[in-house]
Amino acid sequence: MTGEREVIADGDSRAQAFLDGVGLRPVYPTPESRQALEGFDESLPRHGLGDQATIKLLDDLGSPGTVATNGGRYFGFVVGASLPVAAAAERLLLAWDNGAAAYVTGPSAAAIEKVAARWMLEILDLPSESAVGFTTSASTGTLIALIAARRTLLGRLGWDLDRRGTSGAPDIRIVTSDVAHISVTKAVRVLGFGLENVATVPSDEFGRLDASKLPAIDDHTIVVLQSGEVNTGESDPFRDVIAAAQAVGAWVHVDGAFGLWARASKHRAETDGVDAADSWTVDGHKWLNTPYDSAMVITRRSEDLVAAMQSDSPYAPSSPDAQKNLSLDFSRRARGVAIWAALRSLGRDGVAELIERTVDLAAVVADGLRDAGYSVLNRVVLNQVLFASDDDEGTLRILHAVQDSGKFWFGQTLWRGKVALRISVSSWRTTRDDVDQLIVMLALLRQSDS
Ligand SMILES: Cc1ncc(COP(=O)(O)O)c(C=O)c1O
Repeated sequence: MTGEREVIADGDSRAQAFLDGVGLRPVYPTPESRQALEGFDESLPRHGLGDQATIKLLDDLGSPGTVATNGGRYFGFVVGASLPVAAAAERLLLAWDNGAAAYVTGPSAAAIEKVAARWMLEILDLPSESAVGFTTSASTGTLIALIAARRTLLGRLGWDLDRRGTSGAPDIRIVTSDVAHISVTKAVRVLGFGLENVATVPSDEFGRLDASKLPAIDDHTIVVLQSGEVNTGESDPFRDVIAAAQAVGAWVHVDGAFGLWARASKHRAETDGVDAADSWTVDGHKWLNTPYDSAMVITRRSEDLVAAMQSDSPYAPSSPDAQKNLSLDFSRRARGVAIWAALRSLGRDGVAELIERTVDLAAVVADGLRDAGYSVLNRVVLNQVLFASDDDEGTLRILHAVQDSGKFWFGQTLWRGKVALRISVSSWRTTRDDVDQLIVMLALLRQSDS
């Protein structure tokens, strides 16, 4: 077996070589590279095949089979790259190998995540008394928030959920918009609310929940709003809906996977009134450009989250703000450290600059697409550009030509019954030149397609 130092240095130098060349890679792996992934399909070896040979295979076959999301020309989903400081922090965490359940398992992690939590509330301007659980994804954040919401509402109705379970409990109804993210539907299904107990509110032409069509809500209701609709980037009318919900004792959760970051920039008016909600989820791995497994669930009343996620035991007592009492995991990576590193390195100004620069680039893309004769279907209030060519077939031809080129990548969606294309500018690496080249390619494709 090779020594630890050599193996880790080998991994590091391969990682560096990958990063050095990420801008030159096809943005989506070639058919040959994808075919070569079959090379991983070995039988489980009886005798170990060695550290360096294993890392070599991972790099030789795996690296060419990756999507260049860590480069500047990937515009798919709402995917950011990794800030170097956040990636470096993750590498140090790997060396520490501390479980970050609580102070006892990793004092450094506990201290840093506490600071990261405070800074997150400051930069998003959410109530300072809120609790922040660092979790894997916005999907998990919404799941945890709905767990806390149901437990709290039922408690107020005199039902002890922990003791009595859901059977026979008062019905809790979910109210959300018809363009809520699929992670909301998933959380509703997984938690056993029942899709029949969801009241779906129509959205307006921009993709915002239409507050005038809100059904009757009461203290048995969880209203799920969103900041950053996945196609248009729009946010729901928080001020009106939250005031109506608060008046009757409903719970309001906000899925702000990417849109909440607008609050850290001059675009904060997009999220006007969102700070009055009861809970929020937001990702680091989208717009803050931290590596994956980076998200947060936040509740206004910390006791709601702590009571729902409580996992103290005689062998593992801890403080209420231990991360195992704020999220689903017990053993866990110190996910908040990469967020801390990104916030410390960028500062408030750097985060604002990242958000504002990518919003500006999205506006440049939208202008270029209009000039090239495409229909831009959204107002481009944040970093999302939704557009189409003349008909569904033409739109798909453009999409496939871009994807097959290996020069750029973005995806498709259905918007108001028609195929549309989504460009998301979320990466710190994306430059004006990347965006100009994208526009040139799309303009040429449209010319040759018409
Ligand atoms: C609005 C919205 N909510 C939730 C999610 C899910 O986030 P995650 O991938 O972190 O689970 C996304 C991801 O695209 C999103 O855009």
